[in-house]
Amino acid sequence: MRFQTADVKPDAHYIHGTEKTEQERLVALNRLTNPAFVEFLELRPDSRVLEIGSGLGILAGEVAARASQGGVIGIEFSSAQLAATPVTRPNLRFAQGDAHRLPFDGALFDVVYCRYLLEHVADPVEVLREMRRVLRPGGRVCVQENNILANEFYPECPRFDAIWEKFVALQLKLGGDSLIGKKLFALLRQAGFQHIRLSFAPEIHPADSDTFLPWVENMIHNVTGAAALLVRHRLATQREIDEAVAEVRAFEMRPDACGYFYWNRARAW
Ligand SMILES: C[S@@+](CC[C@H](N)C(=O)[O-])C[C@H]1O[C@@H](n2cnc3c(N)ncnc32)[C@H](O)[C@@H]1O
Repeated sequence: MRFQTADVKPDAHYIHGTEKTEQERLVALNRLTNPAFVEFLELRPDSRVLEIGSGLGILAGEVAARASQGGVIGIEFSSAQLAATPVTRPNLRFAQGDAHRLPFDGALFDVVYCRYLLEHVADPVEVLREMRRVLRPGGRVCVQENNILANEFYPECPRFDAIWEKFVALQLKLGGDSLIGKKLFALLRQAGFQHIRLSFAPEIHPADSDTFLPWVENMIHNVTGAAALLVRHRLATQREIDEAVAEVRAFEMRPDACGYFYWNRARAW
């Protein structure tokens, strides 16, 4: 397998950054969302798998456990994320690279996936074309992405919702698209895929579930992690952000509260 050393420019515009608190948020989000995602990949024990934008490598580690006779490679452009990535299995490795220019020859992998990546990249269609290029005949691409306005809290949290909408504007300013989940069908078609199957991965977190607090904390940390950028781009004041967080902290105390969301997923050939 040809595996070039990539010439990678770290992206200063990555909305979440790589601070320790953000890495902790990502660990918690992995705990919540990995089991359903690994099922969605429908791996065989001997699958050869590529993850693009592998972050802290937690998901890739779980995928490598499932593809125990195959192998998993994670491509990630941030050296801070790679430095926090433990290589826990012999069939798992990570390399620095840019999703727009994958450092591989074509037709190598049975499954190529990305999760929570396309919303951050400059050219999602180019990334999907690259994912298609490295697929073996008969292989498939699997994607799970955000449409952040699908988030709902009940009882409602209007201050939080107002800041959350600003998050959409911020990501646009930074060159990303936090609504990209609903565009997956169109983007995959533009990237040349003929067979596309769409689905939702639901998140339903009532106050009496073990997942309620981790889910709501994930939402809060998305906002607090981007607070400095929201203020710098004049999309919100620190006071508005503090009030939004206080509102959701009060929501967290309610025995009748519930959080709802869904991820957009696609499988394509
Ligand atoms: C939200 S994290 C998701 C990580 C992992 N896929 C998961 O589901 O836990 C997105 C990751 O994509 C990486 N990333 C963003 N743009 C990239 C690019 N152009 N090439 C490679 N990685 C990229 C970021 O550095 C970050 O680690």
